Amino acid sequence: MNKFFLCLFTLLLLNAELHAQFNIIPQPLEVINTSKGSFNLSDRTPIVFKQQGLGKSASFLNAYLSQFYGFNLKQSKATAQGIYLRLNHKPESSKAAETNHTTGNYSLEVKKEGIFISAATEEGVFYGVQTLIQLLDPNSKDKTLAVPFVKIKDEPRFQYRGMHLDVARHFSTVSFVKKYIDYLALHKMNYFHWHLTDDQGWRIEIKKYPKLTELGSKRKGTITGFLPGNGNTNIPHGGFYTQEEIKAIVKYAADRYITVIPEIEMPGHASAALTAYSYLGCTGGPYKVQETFGVFDEVFCAGNEQTFTFFQDVIDEVAALFPAKYIHIGGDECPKTSWKKCPKCQQRMKDHQLKDEHELQSYFVQRMEKYINKKGKSIIGWDEILEGGLAPNATVMSWRGEDGGIEAAKQKHYAIMTPGNYMYFDYAQTAKRDSLTMPGLTTLEKVYSYEPIPAGLPAQYRKYILGAQANVWTEYMNNPSKIEYMIFPRMSALSEVVWSSKESRDWTSFQSRLKQQFNRYQLWGTNYYKDALENSRKSPAFQGHF
Ligand code: ACM
Ligand code: ZN
Repeated sequence: MNKFFLCLFTLLLLNAELHAQFNIIPQPLEVINTSKGSFNLSDRTPIVFKQQGLGKSASFLNAYLSQFYGFNLKQSKATAQGIYLRLNHKPESSKAAETNHTTGNYSLEVKKEGIFISAATEEGVFYGVQTLIQLLDPNSKDKTLAVPFVKIKDEPRFQYRGMHLDVARHFSTVSFVKKYIDYLALHKMNYFHWHLTDDQGWRIEIKKYPKLTELGSKRKGTITGFLPGNGNTNIPHGGFYTQEEIKAIVKYAADRYITVIPEIEMPGHASAALTAYSYLGCTGGPYKVQETFGVFDEVFCAGNEQTFTFFQDVIDEVAALFPAKYIHIGGDECPKTSWKKCPKCQQRMKDHQLKDEHELQSYFVQRMEKYINKKGKSIIGWDEILEGGLAPNATVMSWRGEDGGIEAAKQKHYAIMTPGNYMYFDYAQTAKRDSLTMPGLTTLEKVYSYEPIPAGLPAQYRKYILGAQANVWTEYMNNPSKIEYMIFPRMSALSEVVWSSKESRDWTSFQSRLKQQFNRYQLWGTNYYKDALENSRKSPAFQGHF
């Protein structure tokens, strides 16, 4: 190799190294390599902020440093070299957001004089802290961390960046739910969709209806193997959250700028509630908390006034516990078999001139929407709520592909995209079938390739797409380690889908940055699918199963 090429080669290598040092996920809008050098972060570094609210960001950083590096920072008013968290109070004019208004812009600068994070909002500062965390070497065992000089400007692309967790099929403890919320925070996500009720368990304490948890939170066993199963564990499974625990989780999430959206399923997925209060079903029972999975004919009676009284009472307590603007009312997979045979349901249809049971479901949802709206909240429902007529103010969660989201947006309703073949993290992530999962295949690359704005959606409706979410149904996840295995690294890919600009999405760059993310997973002690990078490319295209 002659001298010139050797020089060029060295330069290229150096350049690659310079750029490779920032392995931030999700990719920020703008990362500027400033001068070479780093800021030494240690327990002697003060953390400086004026506004009380920024204490949440400081606490998160300190908890992270304590847990993973064994030191933390003292708050100080000093103007020495330190970490400065600032609210600059004038929202920076962000690049025209594709969807409605997003908040969370921040800037981060690491230089000789210190680390400066500023934003117009508290959550912006919090996201700046998340980026700072990603500048720390996950492999370092030192009590002094070299934070590379850099200048970053960043903003989220979508206002809804979510993860869902089903705690009905398998219960998750309070401590794991908190850990899960931390995982969201570390990925700059801002919505936690908590699926609290289903056929296999009712998991939220409702004071007026104590049997919901006394009876409805317990089942006698669980099938083994894939549906319909090859046996039963015959091991009782149960668990629920007291209202005090729920308040603690909501606060834990709020401290991380995450809104918790509770899902209370209606009118289907009702077995657990009906086991507790059989008068709410069309036939009166007997019912049981289901030990197997799928869709069941036992649903809430839409002809019985007591059903609405029940749900209004439940919503009263739920609305008081969750400050979120949204309550998710489910609405999916409600067979109409029992309604067809039920005199009360048929009478209701006659009285309201409803032409079929889909319209009866729409009646149910619209009636509950009115009640929820009166409480100052809005409903979200799975895309079945489009059938028989959409409730006037509903937001649609599109799960059976993208059509529901497209249809909702065209009707000028907001939509959140969670299409099964990209956003279902209960599907296998490898064609090798490494564990029991739902039959679909959603590789890491497939998740990464997802574009939340549907290709065919005319431009004037794009603003109705709020963002995207991945769903974690736990039929085949009965312990935290399995949940972690199913969400990582796919959740890291999702974070880029919902946060990073469309232009910056780059699968090659993501794969390279993910290697460092794997080191972070190791630092956190989380389980993850270690072959994701090797297998993602090799996996065949998804074969849908809906
Ligand atoms: C769903 O997966 N049933 C929304
Ligand atoms: Zn009925």
